[in-house]
Amino acid sequence: MIDTTSHGVSPAQAAAEKKLTDTVVASFEATSDDRLKTLLQALVKHLHAYIREVRLTEDEWNQAIEFLTQVGHITDDKRQEFILLSDVLGASMQTIAVNNPVSGNATEATVFGPFFTQDAPEIPIGGDISGGAPGQSCWVEGTVTDTAGNPVPGARIEVWEADEDGFYDVQYDDGRVTGRAHLYSDHEGKYAFWGLTPTPYPIPHDGPVGRMLEATDRSPVRASHLHFMVTAPGQRTLVTHIFVEGDPQIEIGDSVFGVKDSLIKRFETKAPDTPTPDGRDLNGHSWARTRFDIVLAPAEI
Ligand code: BEZ
Ligand code: FE
Repeated sequence: MIDTTSHGVSPAQAAAEKKLTDTVVASFEATSDDRLKTLLQALVKHLHAYIREVRLTEDEWNQAIEFLTQVGHITDDKRQEFILLSDVLGASMQTIAVNNPVSGNATEATVFGPFFTQDAPEIPIGGDISGGAPGQSCWVEGTVTDTAGNPVPGARIEVWEADEDGFYDVQYDDGRVTGRAHLYSDHEGKYAFWGLTPTPYPIPHDGPVGRMLEATDRSPVRASHLHFMVTAPGQRTLVTHIFVEGDPQIEIGDSVFGVKDSLIKRFETKAPDTPTPDGRDLNGHSWARTRFDIVLAPAEI
């Protein structure tokens, strides 16, 4: 019979390793906060199991500590390398999966990312979020409803995206506010705005997480997307994106595992001089349009 717990070591060695795990788990036994106790005891069990499974060398453990030290050193109030690490390990998406259980036909959630800011300008329905950022204009429209199909009027819709050069406004150091805004759904739950057709861009990869991706032949590029956060009283807050159907990066792989099939939307490109939905004159430029109907899950009571 294959022994799946001893990892090829002698029974005496396996027993010594298990005894250490048990001792450390027991050291948290008196923790008065039950949740903290659960979190730490499970962490110890899984961490020890990992060390034993891969037969971690001391050199490898020191390298891991050096790597985490570098992650800490590059992190400040503008650059959050720990979130990037969580993202590229799929830990962010797994936490989202655990905390946003499927709820009827509710729109699926995906990764938040580091580029949301509070206080993005308010625009009216049909307004423009680009703030002059470069890119192809894109008309985005849809509805906000609950899972029973009732319109959700007055939902706050935050939208943000990178420009066509692949940068969010906060990645420039000139204080610009572009490619972001918030608006509210109307009395029928409808909304619409002008944004930019999303294009692929890499997550920040000039730090230890980027070096890890390089060492593992993984791309830092994210599939093209437009971020949404939708809040309404009585509804679960939805943090999500829409992705562009046909974007090759969807097949290649999104560096932070954010793509879900239900979030891939058709973006129809319109030839220059095609009339726009609101009569806006785009000075002979091509444009695109897409539809995203948002279904909010009920908030947990
Ligand atoms: C983003 O979509 O903006 C993003 C998400 C995760 C990591 C880095 C960037
Ligand atoms: Fe993004």
